[in-house]
Amino acid sequence: MTTPDPTPVPEDPFAAGPPQGWPEQPDAVVLDADAFRHSQDDLYRRLRRDHGPVVPVLLERQIPVWLVLGYREMVRVTTDPKTFARDSRRWHSWDKVPDDWELMTFVGYRPTMLFTEGAEHERRAEAIIDSMEVVDPFELRALCERVADDLIDDFAGSGSADLIADYACRIPLRVLSRMYGLDGAESEELQQITVDLVSGVGGPAAHQKMVDQMVSLLAQARANPDRKNISTVLAFHPAGLTDDEIINDLLGNVYAAHQPTTDLIGNALRLMLTDERFAVTMSGGRRSVGQALNEVLWEATPVPNWIGRWAAEDTMLGNRRIRKGDCLMLGLAAANADPDVRPDFRAGAAGNQAHMAFSHGTHGCPPVARELAEAIAMAAIEVLIDRLPDVSLAIAPEELEWRSGLMMRGVSAMPVEFSATSH
Ligand code: HEM
Repeated sequence: MTTPDPTPVPEDPFAAGPPQGWPEQPDAVVLDADAFRHSQDDLYRRLRRDHGPVVPVLLERQIPVWLVLGYREMVRVTTDPKTFARDSRRWHSWDKVPDDWELMTFVGYRPTMLFTEGAEHERRAEAIIDSMEVVDPFELRALCERVADDLIDDFAGSGSADLIADYACRIPLRVLSRMYGLDGAESEELQQITVDLVSGVGGPAAHQKMVDQMVSLLAQARANPDRKNISTVLAFHPAGLTDDEIINDLLGNVYAAHQPTTDLIGNALRLMLTDERFAVTMSGGRRSVGQALNEVLWEATPVPNWIGRWAAEDTMLGNRRIRKGDCLMLGLAAANADPDVRPDFRAGAAGNQAHMAFSHGTHGCPPVARELAEAIAMAAIEVLIDRLPDVSLAIAPEELEWRSGLMMRGVSAMPVEFSATSH
């Protein structure tokens, strides 16, 4: 999804000198897709020290946005949707944004629930939330275990695998699509199309295939009201969603679920395979998988930044004057690293779940979706440990590479080895 940029990336975002792209904010900092790749904590510390909790930044192609770093400021932004609104058409800087901008996937207006506001958002969100509550936790756990087991069957005999490509990225949509009401082959197809699209393969034809799949899923739902799945709940929900609304929200959930849940699994596996505190768990204990997931949601969160919010009026935030139409990027990982709230895991602060990983407030990731992501990740890791108890990294920990990109954080591959088994 990243647009290749011929300009060499400066190692230090502060070294480039004052940028020209935001004359009203002379301390604006240039941040590119690589800025968060290494040592995020150091970057946040320096940004906070030099610019305070709300920083003017220029993203790739000199696009001006405010980066919200402070936990307290994040709470304000996410709980005041009248001032910090969600519809990206409010942005006054659209004339600066090229069509092929790297973050267009996240900011380009689409008629999904994500970009709705006020009563319209309430109506759409209620339907999506109700629909996702259709599967009870026991059925969900059994489904996740089946999906994980099937994938492990494919590589268990070989003694090696890439836990990202062969496992983590294949799980979330196989689970979600079954909840939608897709059968085995259709579910695999949706998962494959999504993996292709997210990695930049497939293009408009692949997207159209996905739309067609949702159209036929909805037709099946309308014809079979007795089936118990996400699409039938949406089709007959009292909120009275139109077909277009349902199709857009089904698609929206596919994108919302795939990469973050993949990276939650991947980042937790990375932690468990590289940190000695989890060595006992990896060799058969189960107790601390939940702890690893919680620690990742604080320290290596799958969505470190989220764009975002658009100011509906002039206001002050963290001593900065925000103008109507300004864009704000939620620095979720930075808020997690705010010294005022950050727990010390090494000192045993494992129970603290006040992180911003799923954002917060009206537009935050819905609780039912968070529970789904955590249930999928928990089952994926527990099944892997049960099936391959001696799994270990096939490369040195420092060879694991974070992908570049501002919005999604995860490693690009995770080669592992284990004793080959025949089921
Ligand atoms: C680890 C996994 C996940 C993470 C880290 C995550 C994170 C997020 C974040 C940061 C947002 C934006 C919130 C905002 O604008 O304030 C969001 C929104 C959303 N997420 Fe998630 N998400 C995850 C998994 C899922 C899953 C599995 C689903 C659905 C199956 C889902 C559905 C949604 C939806 C529908 C929204 C839009 C909410 C709204 O605008 O009302 N997410 N998520």
